[in-house]
Amino acid sequence: MAKIELPREVEFGGLSVDRVIESRRSERDFKDMPLSLLELSRLLHYAYGITEKREQLRAAPSAGALYPIEIYPVANNVQGLARGIYRYFVADHSLALVREGDFRHQMMRHALGEEMMGRASVVLVLSAIFERSAWRYRERAYRYILLEAGHISQNIYLVATALGLGTCAVGAFDDQGYNKIIRVDGKMESVIYLMPVGKI
Ligand SMILES: Cc1cc2nc3c(=O)[nH]c(=O)nc-3n(C[C@H](O)[C@H](O)[C@H](O)COP(=O)(O)O)c2cc1C
Repeated sequence: MAKIELPREVEFGGLSVDRVIESRRSERDFKDMPLSLLELSRLLHYAYGITEKREQLRAAPSAGALYPIEIYPVANNVQGLARGIYRYFVADHSLALVREGDFRHQMMRHALGEEMMGRASVVLVLSAIFERSAWRYRERAYRYILLEAGHISQNIYLVATALGLGTCAVGAFDDQGYNKIIRVDGKMESVIYLMPVGKI
């Protein structure tokens, strides 16, 4: 699988946390402008990237540090990336192309016709690999996984805000439709949350 390395100089000395929290809003009206690869790199690193190398701890907390969530960026308009579905590899901060193509129409259709899914420069599709948590936490794993998606989503909101970008949490979508788009089975792994991101 050909890896696409993401820029590693992600630090940008953004706004203070109080300013970011005060100005965070759900934004749905994105401009038809590309995101740079560096912006995508920052979004992914501060969403779920490794922030403590020795123990491989990440930007978002995770029950037992088991990290059941995966992020699939669907690039609608990202400089240097062909349109298509990518998978984020946290360990080496890289992407791999899962499927090339224009998925704007499908993403809108499976999210109740929401235009923001097509207008976003990138849609960060969050999925869960349930067994990663379930072997330890059994039926409680489902709760933890959903809570963890919330932590990652909030990170995406905050880093997007600090970068002057917009995003909106989306829970209203057809699960099977999105599972088919990113090619997961909906049992072992299922899409649970969507974060479209774009310029505002
Ligand atoms: C779990 C969850 C699911 C959401 N799903 C949607 C959605 O499907 N569509 C949408 O437009 N906004 C969605 N939102 C965004 C909320 O509408 C938004 O957070 C709320 O209106 C408050 O506005 P604010 O985020 O700007 O403070 C969702 C938010 C959360 C936390």
